[in-house]
Amino acid sequence: MSNIGSYEGRLKNFDWSIAEKELGYNKGEAINIGWYCSDRICEMGKAGKTALIWEGLGGVARQYTFDDIRVNSNKFGAFLRSLGLKNEDRVCLFMDKIPELYIGFLGVLKIGAIAQPLFSAFGDESLHVRLDNAETTAIITQRKHVSKVRRIIEKSPYLKHVIIVDHDGKKPLKDREMTFNMEEYEEPKDFEFFPTKAETPSVLHYTSGTTGQPKGVKHVHYSLISQYLTTKWVLDLLEDDIYWCTADPGWVTGTSYGIIGPWSMGITQCVMDVGFSAENWYKFIEKHKVTMWYSAPTAIRSLMKAGDEVVKKHNLSSLRHLASVGEPLNAEAVIWSEKVFGKPFLDTYWQTETGSIMLTNFPGMKIKPGSMGKAFPGITAAVVDTKTFKPIQEVGKIGLIAFKPGWPAMMRTYWNNETTYKSKFTNGWYLPGDRAYIDLDGYFWFVGRDDDVINTGGHLVSPFEVESALLEHEAVAESAVVAKPDEVNMEVVKAFVMLNAGYEADDMLELKIMNFIRKKLSPLAMPQEIEYVKTLPKTRSGKIMRRLLHAKEWGEEIGDTSTLEDDE
Ligand code: WTA
Repeated sequence: MSNIGSYEGRLKNFDWSIAEKELGYNKGEAINIGWYCSDRICEMGKAGKTALIWEGLGGVARQYTFDDIRVNSNKFGAFLRSLGLKNEDRVCLFMDKIPELYIGFLGVLKIGAIAQPLFSAFGDESLHVRLDNAETTAIITQRKHVSKVRRIIEKSPYLKHVIIVDHDGKKPLKDREMTFNMEEYEEPKDFEFFPTKAETPSVLHYTSGTTGQPKGVKHVHYSLISQYLTTKWVLDLLEDDIYWCTADPGWVTGTSYGIIGPWSMGITQCVMDVGFSAENWYKFIEKHKVTMWYSAPTAIRSLMKAGDEVVKKHNLSSLRHLASVGEPLNAEAVIWSEKVFGKPFLDTYWQTETGSIMLTNFPGMKIKPGSMGKAFPGITAAVVDTKTFKPIQEVGKIGLIAFKPGWPAMMRTYWNNETTYKSKFTNGWYLPGDRAYIDLDGYFWFVGRDDDVINTGGHLVSPFEVESALLEHEAVAESAVVAKPDEVNMEVVKAFVMLNAGYEADDMLELKIMNFIRKKLSPLAMPQEIEYVKTLPKTRSGKIMRRLLHAKEWGEEIGDTSTLEDDE
């Protein structure tokens, strides 16, 4: 029997107060995610239960109980307070998947500050624009990443504290830098968490759009309500589970379901801070007897490619439940997982902006491989017409995914960008920007994005960001960046480049351009291919028509280009 029980039964009389009751939260009172994920679990008598099993490179391992999480996040909180940091200050977490990232995240929340996790592979520019946009006061990082911070610190006047969690005391510290050793720092006495309320900001996650700089998605402490209940009913966690979420907390899955969901339920989770390989992953599952595994389609397709033989070399019988998020999960991957693991990966659909799972195949429900399933109870979901924005009644007709606003984990705004936030709502619906259709049984099927954002291996890449980086190179006159098909990553980044006069369109130049933009972008956003072109297709007013280039890459009908000629 799964936690959700009967899906239809849950739809009747659903109310988010179910989660409030289970969490012991009464409206109007303080609600602090940091406290909920550690102190409360200890108060429930689980102080000695393992919260985190961590493994890094070369077999190093660390383990923490819920009491360790409580104490160490208090230390983080006390240290940040000693620097004068206070509620609503932005504190960036810029670390690999080390324990300090997970525990520091809770520490930041405990003092009421806003946690801004950023993917540690970001290059200087990607880091800088996000810190700049949020006017972040402090950054918590590791020795290995501090050089990136040093290269941007001069142009970051708001950044007052650079906190290094693993400094060995050998190299001298520079301006604004300081060390904080979580294990050695003295436990604060009488640490009090800041009494954040439901609507107090908690997390700022940056996401890419088609135009403009990345947007800071603002979440609040009340998001816990959705994150807790979706974790319970979709990820179906049980008291003795060993949970593994493969996502990095630099992205929303890694926080909503890699920290908040499991720990607010008091569940043991494992983290592997080692690069991907099928062998490594299976070994990890076998060694820690992982029971619930939340991963992503690209990883699953990579495992498929590694073949069935390597699966058979490992005892993976601990696996009880599997789920996936981030990009379309193709039917083959679902069927394959059922064949080799004896369990299908259940697809879940949501976004940084939604904060929690919106559409999903529920445990115990009939699974349709390739489909995203149905709406979580309490979520009103539809597919609306692209012109009238009214729900489409016709079965199988493609339109825009739409949600009625109002669930607890919904973003509250884009940081300093209320205009773009408002543009996401039409006719009373929140439009996530994806296309889908609904079948006869009410299941949602993903069709594609409704904008030019590229989803490569589950990571959203803004063509605008890549084009801007390219344009900064002296040889590049114009550029257009689109997705090109890829067997494993589904989509990869491809750049069309028009050169300035006097430059030779050759491999040498391609290499130079690649090296130039590598310093600016995250490795995930790097083009896999540059194609030199003499002209780029444009609208009458001079806007580059990425859609035309996209259609060509995908061998799709270009259709009526007269409409494409018009600006939209
Ligand atoms: C896409 C990740 C198809 C979609 C949690 C969405 C998906 C964007 C699925 C959000 C899925 C996410 N099937 N596409 N199951 N899940 N997407 O903000 O385009 O990094 O809008 O959040 O990924 O990506 P984000």
